Amino acid sequence: MQAILEELAERREKAHLGGGEKRIAAQHSKGKLTARERIDVLLDPGSFEELDMYVEHNCTDFGMQDQIIPGDGVVTGSGTVNGRLVFVFSQDFTVFGGSLSERHAQKICKIMDMALKVGAPVIGLNDSGGARIQEGVASLGGYAEVFQRNVLASGVVPQLSLIMGPCAGGAVYSPAMTDFIFMVKDSSYMFVTGPDVVKTVTNEVVTQEELGGAVTHTAKSGVADVAFDNDIEALLAARDLIDYLPLSNREDLPERPTADPFDRIENSLDTLIPANPNMPYDMHELIRKTLDEGEFFEIQPTHAGNIITGFGRIEGRTVGVVANQPMVLAGCLDINSSKKAARFVRFCDCFEIPIITFVDVPGFLPGVAQEHSGIIKHGAKLLYAYAEATVPKITVITRKAYGGAYDVMASKHLRGDLNYAWPTAEIAVMGAKGAVEIIFRGRTADEIAERTKEYEARFANPFVAASKGFIDEVIMPHSTRRRIALGLRKLRNKQLENPWKKHDNIPL
Ligand code: HXC
Repeated sequence: MQAILEELAERREKAHLGGGEKRIAAQHSKGKLTARERIDVLLDPGSFEELDMYVEHNCTDFGMQDQIIPGDGVVTGSGTVNGRLVFVFSQDFTVFGGSLSERHAQKICKIMDMALKVGAPVIGLNDSGGARIQEGVASLGGYAEVFQRNVLASGVVPQLSLIMGPCAGGAVYSPAMTDFIFMVKDSSYMFVTGPDVVKTVTNEVVTQEELGGAVTHTAKSGVADVAFDNDIEALLAARDLIDYLPLSNREDLPERPTADPFDRIENSLDTLIPANPNMPYDMHELIRKTLDEGEFFEIQPTHAGNIITGFGRIEGRTVGVVANQPMVLAGCLDINSSKKAARFVRFCDCFEIPIITFVDVPGFLPGVAQEHSGIIKHGAKLLYAYAEATVPKITVITRKAYGGAYDVMASKHLRGDLNYAWPTAEIAVMGAKGAVEIIFRGRTADEIAERTKEYEARFANPFVAASKGFIDEVIMPHSTRRRIALGLRKLRNKQLENPWKKHDNIPL
């Protein structure tokens, strides 16, 4: 018996060594943790239960039958994050560069299937040279099996991808279909074709980092959500994010005790809006002052800054926040901000996370580039996302709500449950000056100025909309948190269903 136990211990030890000391040292020298070290940081201490530690590849080409490493380049299993169940796979770059073989894919699929059955998030730690070249089409099949499960799991359990090394070629499409992507600066990259192929085909010279590094994807392309300085920061942030999310679409929201009173008054909000309507202010201030303990987990903080998206809590329960940001492009909606917020709203709706919308939007961004790049279709995504969402929706208009953008931003007409406005709100078809210049074209400057004042007096306020019932109440800025908290209490048992359909057809 003792000998058998010793053999098991030996096998485990061998599997734990992955590709061996030398390759582990090489991994560390790049500033990266190993697959197992990452799991240790991600999960609660001692909670990881590994599966499939002894799985081996089945390839016999190119001398692979003599190169067997137990586990086959990916560590899979389950554990807890602050006591809550998650499933995890962590690719081991020290084993064939973390490349994906048929068996490697089977391991990932096994934990995804289990996560779907029991209703728990899947966290993927990606660090891989892509398809296992020696295996050819078996590896491609493996990828497609993972893709299929990403799609089936979408909207059922949260899926989170951390890119912590290479992720190239078709391999990028698994993370792309998950809900959130975190990247590590300087050590991770994602692209469909790398710099060499780009050079051959288009003659463009670009580095890996410029083409698909963390900064590129979190600022420019918007493919990834948040960039971190190192593995540890990314993993700890993943824990924070998981804390906000329900385990599945069948589970209630997580609740965390808070000492922050629901009716905390914030007098400073009464002076947040500058006297000059063209002056910006930082919408983050309102967000933080509204949420429990000022805690806000921002999604895509460096992409499309004209809209802010992220998670916070009110009375200990998660809310999703969407807010126009007057400090960037005056808070206009454009293609990138519409796409960013639409995806966020849809995520919240999938997982029954109430949506709080703070509105200060002068309209859609004008421009040939915007029109020719399809602002009509992309803007429609946000409109569509809000309109289809059945979760509790509370909207607060702080200042401008002009034109089509008024409609889009969770207005009453899109089944907003509680639509509040601050007394500083201006709800109109457009800004007063622009409106008057159209209606009174050709009049003298003096007359235009006078008519502008008239228009402002008539429309640059929330009361016209309130008189029609489009605004439920004009509230004191200082009581915003209390109003939202009470609103959420009321809406806790909201029931609303869209008509039956196979699935919808959002303008993609
Ligand atoms: C098998 C691989 C591998 C792969 C790396 N390795 N990628 N083995 N299949 N795809 C092995 C290497 O042979 C090496 O083994 C070890 O992993 C580490 O690789 P290095 O090249 O030494 O590391 P590094 O210099 O850091 O470069 C990493 C890399 C490079 C940039 C990822 O390895 C690389 O370019 N790999 C090939 C990438 C690729 O073309 N993949 C296929 C893409 S197509 P030893 O034994 O020396 O340690 C694809 C299609 C997916 O993925 C389609 C899905 C639909």
